[in-house]
Amino acid sequence: MKRHLLAVSTAALLAACASAPVVEHSKMTGAEIAQIDAVLKRDFRAKGQAKMTRLEPDAVQRECNLHADNPPDSVARSLQEAQLKTIKYPSDSLLGDWKNGRKIAESGRGMQWNEKPANPGGGGCYNCHQLSPQQTSHGTLGPSLKGFGKTRGYGPDMQRYAYGKIYNAKAYSACSHMPRFGHSGSLSEQQIKDLVAYLLDPKSPVNQ
Ligand code: HEC
Repeated sequence: MKRHLLAVSTAALLAACASAPVVEHSKMTGAEIAQIDAVLKRDFRAKGQAKMTRLEPDAVQRECNLHADNPPDSVARSLQEAQLKTIKYPSDSLLGDWKNGRKIAESGRGMQWNEKPANPGGGGCYNCHQLSPQQTSHGTLGPSLKGFGKTRGYGPDMQRYAYGKIYNAKAYSACSHMPRFGHSGSLSEQQIKDLVAYLLDPKSPVNQ
């Protein structure tokens, strides 16, 4: 059976630090969505920088909810095209410093209610991905990224894909459960470049 997370913003999940409501279903009706929405609004407490607006799905999340994260191909394609347009690529190199990238990947800080909005947050990539052999623990919601560059290639196309995927995962998979780090503003351009280096620098532990 497939498990679907209701697509509330990841910021809300990170901020509330509570487990997301998990719904077992193959299709969602408008009434079911409204019911879940009401429970979220009832139980979520706005605090610090975590405001109620974090519960508002944007257009793509709304569409994914309606289709239980499995929209028809034509819908998925047009959602992805719209998300692809949101990606802002740096004008210079896409490869930052893998050592910083590692720290960002292994940090789960940022966006919590009690943190200052200006403080740089982490990516928390370990929550869903295996990255380097030295990692003590990792989640498995996402695929293992161990050896990412070594197996997929280190070239400019792969760098552009990795940057875009981290910036806005929904540009490549409309109803992806991976947070849209650049799009949401939770990671800066430099932080995303450092993460690209962590994935794609041949010297990075990810590729050892
Ligand atoms: C909440 C879980 C989650 C988090 C956190 C997360 N990801 Fe993902 N990621 C996924 C899932 C699920 C997929 C595969 C489905 C898809 O394409 O979206 C994925 C796919 C990817 C891919 C594409 C893999 C491929 O084979 O093409 C890359 C690269 C990636 N993630 C990097 C990252 C990085 C770097 C971070 C931290 C900044 C991160 N992810 C954080 C869930 C997550």
